[in-house]
Amino acid sequence: TAENGLSAWLRYAPLQGGQHFHSSVPSHIVALNSSTVSPVYIAGQELQQGLKSILGKQCNVHHAHYGGGSNIVVGTVAEYSKAYGALSSTPDLLDDGYLLDTIGNTVQIIGKNERGALYGAFAYLSKVAQGNFTKVAEVSNPSAPIRWTNEWDNLDGSIERGFAGNSNWFSNGSIVSNLTRTAEYARLLASIGINAVVVNNVNANASLLTPTNIEGLGRIADVMRPYGVQVGISLYFSSPTAGVKGQANLTNFDPLDESVVQWWSNVTDQIYEHVPDMAGYLVKANSEGQPGPLTYNRTLAEGANLFAKALQPHGGIVMFRAFVYNPLNETVWTADRANAQIEFFKPLDGEFDDNVVIQIKYGPIDFQVREPVSPLFANIPKSAVAIELQVTQEYLGQQCHLVYLGPLWKEILDYDLRVDNETSLVRNIISGERFNHSLGGYAGVSNVGTNETWIGSHMAMSNLYAYGRLAWDPTLDAQDVLQDWIRLTFNTNPSVIDAMTQISMESWPAYENYSGNLGVQTLTDILYTHFGPNPQTQDNTIWGQWTRADQKTIGMDRTVANGTGFAGNYPPEIAEMFENIATTPDNLLLWFHHVNYTQLLKSGQTVIQDFYDQHYAGAATAQTFTTLWESLQGKIDDERYYDQLFRQVFQAGHSLVWRDAIANFYYNLSGIPDEAKRVGNH
Ligand code: GCU
Repeated sequence: TAENGLSAWLRYAPLQGGQHFHSSVPSHIVALNSSTVSPVYIAGQELQQGLKSILGKQCNVHHAHYGGGSNIVVGTVAEYSKAYGALSSTPDLLDDGYLLDTIGNTVQIIGKNERGALYGAFAYLSKVAQGNFTKVAEVSNPSAPIRWTNEWDNLDGSIERGFAGNSNWFSNGSIVSNLTRTAEYARLLASIGINAVVVNNVNANASLLTPTNIEGLGRIADVMRPYGVQVGISLYFSSPTAGVKGQANLTNFDPLDESVVQWWSNVTDQIYEHVPDMAGYLVKANSEGQPGPLTYNRTLAEGANLFAKALQPHGGIVMFRAFVYNPLNETVWTADRANAQIEFFKPLDGEFDDNVVIQIKYGPIDFQVREPVSPLFANIPKSAVAIELQVTQEYLGQQCHLVYLGPLWKEILDYDLRVDNETSLVRNIISGERFNHSLGGYAGVSNVGTNETWIGSHMAMSNLYAYGRLAWDPTLDAQDVLQDWIRLTFNTNPSVIDAMTQISMESWPAYENYSGNLGVQTLTDILYTHFGPNPQTQDNTIWGQWTRADQKTIGMDRTVANGTGFAGNYPPEIAEMFENIATTPDNLLLWFHHVNYTQLLKSGQTVIQDFYDQHYAGAATAQTFTTLWESLQGKIDDERYYDQLFRQVFQAGHSLVWRDAIANFYYNLSGIPDEAKRVGNH
């Protein structure tokens, strides 16, 4: 049905009174490419299908110059000029950018390349679907060239940290034969400007590189290509010694060994035979037990450059992950895991080949509900960088809690790191603008599966949508993006928009409040599930997510003066702010400082009382989500209404579990009573 989740924000739901708008859109579509697998052809199909479904208007599609009076013309700058003559002025377009313009009765959708033209068509349809018929006239360019998703799909069909069923493209060790869902996914991604998908888990399996699987990658690429979406893959560093069927089996994987260099260049060439436009490799090396160059006392740069050189002749790039640390080193708190990236990567700045991009998680630890921006963004100016965001809600409620992440990402992207005491917004560092790199951008860990909602819940798809929109334009407002999504996914009823906006915008702060506030991190189970409260698993494990809570004190001292020195990894203005309790924002206090439970916050409250209060407040907010959701009954379709209602009821209950587990844990530890007498026995 149109109500199921598969079409997500591309439902093209009939607009109320749509027939009255027939004259507001042209009657013919001219898509300037007749190859059925070209993005411009797809754009023509999409426009035809969209206008039919939204307005009930049937438009014909032509694939060459058409002279009729009122047309939507979609194509590249070059094809447009061939068919209609040069544009009156040359728009300022970057790769993948597009121009929307209205000339008399004609709408022009002109892309710098085919992909840009398709993006323009989706942008036009998004306006029409939201009932916006103002004359289009805009140039839109992407903020950065790299706008990828990462999918942690395993070859056996499971998905690491995926909460939406099995893989759409892998099963039983190989690529599935029916790739319909893969094409549908590419269509969704194209509509939000995503231009590549890394299809397999960062914890990679060498058997992806068998000749049969390489051929299968070619099939995945073929179904995604018409949508302008390229394929990338994650590599297992020691593949040369892994006995990959159909490939040579070596006795070492030393990145400087000539036979290893040959092995990778040979495999890379094989891949490009089947996937001539492969986007590149994603590499997790020497992290969490994964092999890497350090095994041979080679540097991470030497490891990254091994792949860069194999890819270079084909135009591919290496996304080399900065998520490098050794869990076994983290069993004493002073060996701060947060310092690992700086220790590993800062000395290597300048040693990476030009087609290497360092992919950095937004915070120094691991997708927690609150982390300071990773200081690595400020420390490797000679290297191209990308930010890694997590769309799948691993630590953030696993799609059973509604947590809209747009505001979290915005805080990170807008953060000013003050490199050299100058404005240095994270979004301008990753776009390449701040330090003059042509490469850079975004990697979003999506982990969509075969579930009908793609990601595990209807509402969680706002995160995938926002990810794409913000990667295209990080200056957008998170609430505006959300409301586009609501109108496209549900409807334009103001009370629907209001209720969903309120729930979504309050959701991240609420989750932070009931799962771990003041920068202590998400107090979830660290050892296994990453779901639900388990504050006692934070400390004394190999994972280095210390809170250092004891009977009197709590928090990680990351100062230079007395702690792990982490604060000193930031440029001076920021370092100085975090070094001092007085200038550290309350929401990061326990991230940077080890304090008494009775330490006063800027609000005048003590740490422990604020802990109690915020956990109660967060859970109370989650209760209101159920009521707000119930106000939607009859205003959206029953199918999605009941599906989400179930989740809101669960979240409301689970937020109480969170609240009580955390509040009681710290009450039992500290013995300090709750002024409001809610915690403990009274
Ligand atoms: C997290 C996650 C792992 C993942 C790792 C990574 O720790 O729990 O499943 O492999 O991040 O990003 O590499």
